[in-house]
Parts: sequence; C-alpha cells; structure tokens
Amino acid sequence: TRVLSIASECAPLVKTGGLADVAGALPAALWTQGVQMRTLLPGYPAVIAALHDWTEAAHFDDLFGAPARLLTGWAAGLDLLVIDAPHLFSRPGNPYLGPDGRDWPDNPERFAALSWVGAHVGIHGAAGWHPQVLHGHDWQAGFVPEYLRQMGGGPATVLTIHNIAFTGATDAGRMQSLRLDPWRFQMDGYEFYGGISALKAGLMEADALTTVSPTYAEELMTPEFGMGLDGVMRFRREALTGILNGIDLHAWNPATDPAIRPYDSLPGKAPSKAALRAEMGLPEADGPLCVVVSRMTHQKGLDLVAEALPALLDHGGQLALLGSGEPALEHAFRRLGEQNPHVAVRIGYDEALSHRMIAGGDAILVPSRFEPCGLTQMYGLRYGTVPVVGLTGGLADTVINASPASLAQGVATGIQFSPVTAESLRNALTRLCQLYRDKDTWSRLVANAMAQPVGWDQSARAYAALYARLTAGR
Ligand code: ADP
Ligand code: GLC
Repeated sequence: TRVLSIASECAPLVKTGGLADVAGALPAALWTQGVQMRTLLPGYPAVIAALHDWTEAAHFDDLFGAPARLLTGWAAGLDLLVIDAPHLFSRPGNPYLGPDGRDWPDNPERFAALSWVGAHVGIHGAAGWHPQVLHGHDWQAGFVPEYLRQMGGGPATVLTIHNIAFTGATDAGRMQSLRLDPWRFQMDGYEFYGGISALKAGLMEADALTTVSPTYAEELMTPEFGMGLDGVMRFRREALTGILNGIDLHAWNPATDPAIRPYDSLPGKAPSKAALRAEMGLPEADGPLCVVVSRMTHQKGLDLVAEALPALLDHGGQLALLGSGEPALEHAFRRLGEQNPHVAVRIGYDEALSHRMIAGGDAILVPSRFEPCGLTQMYGLRYGTVPVVGLTGGLADTVINASPASLAQGVATGIQFSPVTAESLRNALTRLCQLYRDKDTWSRLVANAMAQPVGWDQSARAYAALYARLTAGR
C-alpha cells in the first residue's frame, strides 16, 4: 500500500513533541508491513537545509498568497515531499510560534496550505507516485478531506488525533482565505461553535479516524476529555480506533545509547545515576531519584509535582526536571530548585540530557491530567526507570500498576494513581519510596519494566490492516 503521511513536524528534523517522534517513526515501522509511506512536510528552514537528492515535482502559481513548489527528496533517511513556500514556512525556530512566543497569525493559512498540497498529491500524485491513502496528523491536516472533495474525490483518508486540545479554530471570516466552500459551513462540515475548526472538518469527513491509545479513544467521547468535540467523536464512533504509539527502539536503547554508559539490567544503571547526580549537582540520598522530561503545560500536571514534592523529599527522594513551557511553571520550578538541595531543575529543550536523565533516574514521573499516548513513560520502561503515571489515556494502556496481585504474579511495571490530584500523587510517591526500599521487589519491578515490549510491531500491523481495509473496495 502507498500512503502519504501529512505532518506539521517530524523528528529528527523539526520537533515540539511526541507527534514528531511518531511521524518520524511510522515509515520505517510500516515498511516491515509492506506499506510504502512517504511524508509531506512544510519546508521550514531546517527541512529545506537537510533535503538532498531532490527534484521539483510540481509548481503552484498561488499557494495561499504566493508561488510555491513541491519538492521530492530525502532527509535524515526519510522519503519526503516538501512544500517550498518561503512566504509560509521560511521562518526559523518553532514551527508554530513567532519570536514573541505567540502563534503566527497566519497559522490557519499555513497549515491549510499543507492540507491543500496533501489533497493535490492525492489527486495528481507527485512525479508519477500516486498514494492510495492520505494519512494526516492533528488539526494541521484537518482540511485534507475537505479539499479532496472540492477537487473531486480521490484516495481514502485517515486522520490521527494526537491531541484534541488543539482544534485549529479560527473565526468564520477566514472562510475565503482558507479556500473553504461557504455551503460547508455547517454542523456536518467545518463549522465549530460559530467559527471554523480544521480539526472538526477532518473529524467529520475523514474515512477513518485513529487516536494514539485505546483508552484515549474512549475518553474522547466524554465531555471531560472531548474538549467540545465529544459529540463529534460519539457521532463517528464507528470510524474511530485507538492504536498505541511505539517508541524508536534504536534511538532509545539503553544497551547501545551513545549518550550514556550502556547497560542492560538494574545494576548497570548505577554509573548513569551517579553521573546524573554529579551533572545536576545533587548529593547522595537514600530514596529514589525521580526525573521529569516534559513540556510544561497544564496537560502535563507538573503543578501537582510541585505540590506533592514534600512526600518525596520526606522519604529521602530527589527530583531532577528538564522541561520548558508556561512561564509561571518554569518560574515555580526554578525556585524549588534554588530552595532545595535535593531538587535540580533545567529549563530548556535538550535531547542528549533527556537520555542521560531517563537512564540515570530510578523513576520517571508523568502526572498528566490527560495523555493521548505519552512516550516518556515508555522510554522509562525500556531504561528500567519506573514510571509513576496518572491513570489516563495511553498512560493507562502502557503501565501495569504495582498492586499486591500484579507484584505477586510478577507483571507489575510501574505505579499508576487516580484521580490525578496532588493528594493521590502524594500517596503514589510514598508508595514509590516504600517499593524502592524493598530491594527484591524493586529489582523485579525494574526487570519487568525493561522486558515490556514498547516497539511498533503490533501497532504497525494495526495501521497496515486499517489501510488494507480502506483500499480494499477502491
Ligand atoms: P507531548 O507530545 O504531549 O509533549 P510525548 O510524551 O508524546 O508528549 O512526547 C514528548 C517528546 O518530547 C518525548 O520524545 C520527550 O522526550 C520530548 N521532550 C519533551 N520535553 C523535552 C525537553 N525539555 N528536552 C528534551 N526532550 C523533551
Ligand atoms: C501528543 C500527545 C501525546 C502523544 C503524542 C504522539 O503530543 O500529547 O500524548 O504521545 O501526541 O502521539
């Protein structure tokens, strides 16, 4: 099957979060299933700079405001289609934010252009290559089915929801600049509470919808998690499946990771832990060294960590945090770091440090209020760094809580807490410290975690089966 993946970010070229990791990993994961996936990306400076062996596959006289080209080529081992449109994408740094930290005002048009070119390739192909499925990610690819319909049909469409909190909403006045048919401004089209939503358009019109864990698929249909789109999700229940993300087993392999002193079992973690303590300026301690690697937003529940911290410190535990995001949270953690010798905080984005932290920690905290899938808890599993997670979304699907029963059966891999409040995180941290002190139980927990499969195998098969189903009757 030939599939065009349509994404606004893709690791290792441009990344703000897990979406990039997944877009970057899917082609190789699906190759083993007989799927040929190419990826359509905006031509950000980092993408254009990395592109090699490219050719021009199409020219557009007016792509949302100025001429543009479609290039096909390679970068970082990825088979790419790239939109060379300097008026939209020739902006360095974060793909969504200007230097003032705000969304670019023309983001609706920038990603409408991504969707439009995706639909164009669906109809006309690119240099003789014709995809059978257009697989878009999040709101940035939401208008693919809408444009495809305007252009007169075409291949099957899939939309994956990585995070429903981002709806790509804008006001109704933009209909024309977004090239939308006015008569589709209605409940079964792109209309969303009196405005326009690219995500809603895709959710209504894509042939199939997926999200990145089975539990999040269920949650999306509830008002608590649906962010105003739960009705749409219930309406499209039949089209929706949850397919769990995997992680990149080569990039995240403790036995070969060049960023750390490699290891394959619990005793081998000791040098990484000592090195991390030294790097972060943390003293020796009796309790577990907990790490956090995260965007700092409300979703991620880090305010709960700040509140529950005494439960960890009182039991001799420590915290090392790497993250960036909301200024108030950054500030709060900077202060905690200054005030407490057992808390170390690095504000910023640092890929290599994230590996050293996940290798050096005893436990990784992921107290998300909602989490479509989450990748760092899976890094934690693979590195024998016990995940302590909120019971929600993909965190519920990837961690096996250490209960007396699961410990007795030898299947526990981490700690889950519910509801996601500071109170229950406090209890979870206390439980963590108790487990950590019981050396036998702890080493079994770590061994179980390291043995749990977290790759793409099963999910790649699920995507391949979905594509096969969609293309069967065409
Ligand atoms: P989300 O996509 O919601 O941010 P995920 O857990 O799916 O959550 O993916 C986050 C990805 O970003 C992971 O690969 C994680 O390691 C990485 N990451 C997040 N913050 C940082 C940071 N400050 N430095 C390095 N990597 C980070
Ligand atoms: C989103 C979600 C995260 C998920 C990632 C990749 O950023 O917040 O939970 O792992 O997408 O699907």
